Amino acid sequence: MAATQEQLYAGLDLDLSWSEQDLPERERTKHVHRLHPYLGKYIPQLVEELFRRHVPPRGRVLDPFAGSGTTLVQALESGHDSAGVDIAAFNCLLMRVKTTAHNPFGLERDLRAALARFERCEGRAGRPTPYVRAWFAPQARDDLLRFRSLAGDYEHADVLRIVLARAARSARLTSHFDLDLPREPQVGPYWCHKHKRECRPVERADHFIRRYTLDTLARLKDFARVRKPKDAAVLHGDARRLDLGGPFDAVVTSPPYPGLIDYHEQHRYAYELLGLDDRRGEEIGAAEQGTAKAAIAGYVEGIGDVLAACAAALKPRGRVVVVVNDRRDLYPAILERAGLELEQSYRRHVNRRTGRRAGEYFETVLVARRA
Ligand SMILES: C[S@@+](CC[C@H](N)C(=O)[O-])C[C@H]1O[C@@H](n2cnc3c(N)ncnc32)[C@H](O)[C@@H]1O
Repeated sequence: MAATQEQLYAGLDLDLSWSEQDLPERERTKHVHRLHPYLGKYIPQLVEELFRRHVPPRGRVLDPFAGSGTTLVQALESGHDSAGVDIAAFNCLLMRVKTTAHNPFGLERDLRAALARFERCEGRAGRPTPYVRAWFAPQARDDLLRFRSLAGDYEHADVLRIVLARAARSARLTSHFDLDLPREPQVGPYWCHKHKRECRPVERADHFIRRYTLDTLARLKDFARVRKPKDAAVLHGDARRLDLGGPFDAVVTSPPYPGLIDYHEQHRYAYELLGLDDRRGEEIGAAEQGTAKAAIAGYVEGIGDVLAACAAALKPRGRVVVVVNDRRDLYPAILERAGLELEQSYRRHVNRRTGRRAGEYFETVLVARRA
């Protein structure tokens, strides 16, 4: 039997369930949060509020599934030291670029110099790999490869690499409605469901490179104005096996969900263009692994082991705060495996901002301590 409206909304934490009016997109994607698209992140305002509730002033925070770095960026804004782990090399590169305290003059000089040389047609396109040949039109391919050849000449090469990845994402041969995980290159004109007309795949990348270089510079400068002089450590590896350091005052995280997103595959173009290390075999809950019984059991074990390692890295009064959509009810077993005890939980309405009725989406915030 379908839940009634009343049952659906019972026990919601309205302070964590923002409407579009309370929290417009501009705020949710403020400063570096929109440096590069990333499927599956949580919003900075939720993280800020969870810090306020569960992290002591100047406390140190750990995120073992740090993704695009929302926790680390907000820790810098809220005045906390932090550490973040991720298995995906591109996510770690993105986090480093977001959280490094760049020298503002050097940053501006490098980005403008690289762009000026790109506009003068400097740089070498070289030989494209089969992936690059298949997924980009000839002009877009040349633009991207030339920009890539220039990036390495600068101290802020990693910032330029993020610009390159963002431009590559926009310039792929895809349809407008299939940008997140396109399966095949879209080589000719197509009927676009999004724009209700015939559209053509992108042919060039120069306009994206220009626009994103300047946007990246502006966003990093905006963040420099609000960040506190705190430390954010980015650790690349499998959170089940890495030494997490510590002690931490709190863990704040949103783990991957089973069988939903492939975190390496969503940035495939970046791995191909930047030659990054692909460790998708160590992703917990990857979509590729599916949701059969063995995959779910592996997921419970994997997340349980990470949270156990987090619990061991916590100070005695520290809390583990986990944002989940646990529709399979896996977290009681996960917390038990991790030696954690549930202290409280909040429910929040996620798509309250869209105003849609269909496909209502709720999340739970679990707050646990060592058993
Ligand atoms: C839901 S996302 C986190 C998103 C993050 N809260 C944000 O706002 O960007 C989960 C992350 O866990 C990472 N992950 C999956 N398996 C991992 C593992 N074994 N060790 C460390 N990170 C892992 C994925 O690469 C992904 O970036």
